Amino acid sequence: MRQSELEALLKDMSLQEKADQLLQLNGTFYTGELDEIATGPIMEMGLKSEDICQAGSILGTYGAERLKEIQKKYMEKQPHHIPMLFMMDVIHGMKTIFPMPLAMGAAFDPSVAYTAAEIAAKEASVSGLHVTFSPMADLVRDARWGRVMESTGEDAYMNSLYTAAQVKGFQGDSGNLREKYKVASCVKHFAAYGGAEAGRDYNTVELSEQTLREYYLRSYQAGIDAGVALVMTSFNTVNGVPASVNTWLMREVLRKEMGFEGVLISDYAAIEETICHGVSEDKADAAEKALKAGVDIDMMTSCYSGHLAGLIRGGKLEEGILDEAVMRVLQLKNKLGLFENPYKDADPEEEKRWILCEEHRKAARDAACKTFVLLKNERDSDGTALLPLKKGKRTAFIGPYVENQELLSSWAVTGSKEDCVTIRNAAEAVLGEEAVFACGCPIFGNDMEIPSFNGNIRCDVSEAERKGMLEDALKKASEAEQVVLCLGEHSAQSGEAASRTMLDIPEIQMELFREIYRVNQNIVVVLFSGRPLDLREISRKARTVLEVWFPGTEGGNAILDVLTGVQSPSGKLPMSFPYCVAQEPLHYDHYNTGRPNPNGRVEKFRSRYLDAPNEPLYPFGYGLTYTEFSLSEVRLDREQMEADGMIAASVIMKNEGTVFGTETAQMYIRDLTASVVRPVRQLKGIQKVSLMPGESRTVSFEITREQLQFMASDGKEVLESGRFAVYIGTDSTTENCAEFVLI
Ligand code: BGC
Repeated sequence: MRQSELEALLKDMSLQEKADQLLQLNGTFYTGELDEIATGPIMEMGLKSEDICQAGSILGTYGAERLKEIQKKYMEKQPHHIPMLFMMDVIHGMKTIFPMPLAMGAAFDPSVAYTAAEIAAKEASVSGLHVTFSPMADLVRDARWGRVMESTGEDAYMNSLYTAAQVKGFQGDSGNLREKYKVASCVKHFAAYGGAEAGRDYNTVELSEQTLREYYLRSYQAGIDAGVALVMTSFNTVNGVPASVNTWLMREVLRKEMGFEGVLISDYAAIEETICHGVSEDKADAAEKALKAGVDIDMMTSCYSGHLAGLIRGGKLEEGILDEAVMRVLQLKNKLGLFENPYKDADPEEEKRWILCEEHRKAARDAACKTFVLLKNERDSDGTALLPLKKGKRTAFIGPYVENQELLSSWAVTGSKEDCVTIRNAAEAVLGEEAVFACGCPIFGNDMEIPSFNGNIRCDVSEAERKGMLEDALKKASEAEQVVLCLGEHSAQSGEAASRTMLDIPEIQMELFREIYRVNQNIVVVLFSGRPLDLREISRKARTVLEVWFPGTEGGNAILDVLTGVQSPSGKLPMSFPYCVAQEPLHYDHYNTGRPNPNGRVEKFRSRYLDAPNEPLYPFGYGLTYTEFSLSEVRLDREQMEADGMIAASVIMKNEGTVFGTETAQMYIRDLTASVVRPVRQLKGIQKVSLMPGESRTVSFEITREQLQFMASDGKEVLESGRFAVYIGTDSTTENCAEFVLI
């Protein structure tokens, strides 16, 4: 449709019809006959069946047949036959599930996330979906927050690269949403949702405007610059006002300053929740405030549908701002080509062809291999380590994750655990008789109950059963030469509304670990987690630790690929793993303070803890390989840089070991003196380098003004002359450094 036709359509719509374009309901309203639910959800929300028929969009349901049917039926009922938008959380895969987003961050390679998004878009679009609520661009610095698993980590630069890559992966490089197999992407949660106090989900966010702009807004901006079609509001307050009714945040910052022109959707029920926050009197008040703030779609409440028309009739709202919001929704439908083809790519035949096809599974397996982080791989006196596993050795695979298919994370709602390849499936195929298996214990004990999307999860293993499991595991461990112990959090212990104060592995598994350690100390821990954990005991006792996060559908195969050395581990930590939970929030790009405590000195009047180091157990950017790399000193091609000039910083990297490996060269910059305090270092460049044994390569980074600019105290980007330190290394603690002066 042309813009003039959209305008004519808008003009012809009634007030209520327009308000309902902004209504988004979930699929349960559309999967039964209307009359059957008329007494249920409709009554509770105070909606009329007419509103349901003319709602602008639906969330949370999929399937080509089903969505085609819904589209057909409701377009017939919609007065102007306007098609609906179908939206869903396709976060790290549709049916072929890739590693969770934090794991993708560990690849330190945005192209991995691009490919995953492209494949997810293909499977989603043939399943009838038009929009995915992804990527989550929230900066995260507190591992207690369960949703760190949905982010790509604690660094704003990396998050920006990943956000842009995912937006492009979903929407296509051209951004033409009519193209086949593309879906519109939605960057969320605007803004600063990751800054929840004490890591408790939905909690207050208290940030200075400087911190908000300098660190938190960057990755949303990257999404906008990449052409993202939608932005979602966050649940939290920003400067004391809930984001979903925050006019300054949405109109001034998001629209004017950041240049976002697409559709702004509220998070689930977030408009109505402003009553609970204590800034809206009732639903009508909430609707008025949210629309004035510029929020276009009201997800899963009847605030807009029930009150906008009345507010306009009563003179409280101008019809113009309703029209503005409706136009943006119509334009999105038009960009997707829905007025010409309301079903877009929905096609049951294509679903069969693409979903979980070999090509997609292979991509998920390759991606997973790149996300595993080798935290420890101790060598014995003759120089051998447990990993990669050696042929001909009897290996006991023990632990609750050996046969478990729950490898998807709590935000893979469209995926099915039944499609997952377990460690046992893969190990049997690869190692045959050399491998034996035992569960040892459940993921958590009878002392816990974890709420999840599908109700509360409990462990119902009796004491006698547990004893039997443990005995079996101990027998197999003592007869084996080495043990691969597959441990970790339950997937429902991270994700939305899954914050924790203890970052531990459930005690029942730690008991298993200690018992196994008594009978066999050749332990490789394969660790599943949705976040950084406190690994003090594990990393002290186990000879090898491999972090595998929640690796997705092909998890078992990918883990065996890396354990056996078919693939070499190359992941790097996208979040610091704390020494202990009390260090949180924790991030490498902190300020120096006036009284820093380098090298863990024991001295009064220092910024330090009495009972723990300041440093994490495993720092940001850290991760080992199966080989050793050496790095030369940092070389700069000049010592002075002009404002519009450039400096090349380089190192020579060499594979000093005997096997192939991939390292990640990481460049950090520190502004040594500036008008506002700058972090002790900030990541400014990453490069993956794959080298054969004995091979070396020069790795160069360009430094330009963009990497040196920062937000001054007046909120403006500035470039200040002075000294800068450039670090190039293989994690965020490198001291390999050179200095230059910006003149
Ligand atoms: C989450 C969003 C999600 C939405 C729709 C909310 O609870 O915060 O991230 O997109 O639900 O499922």
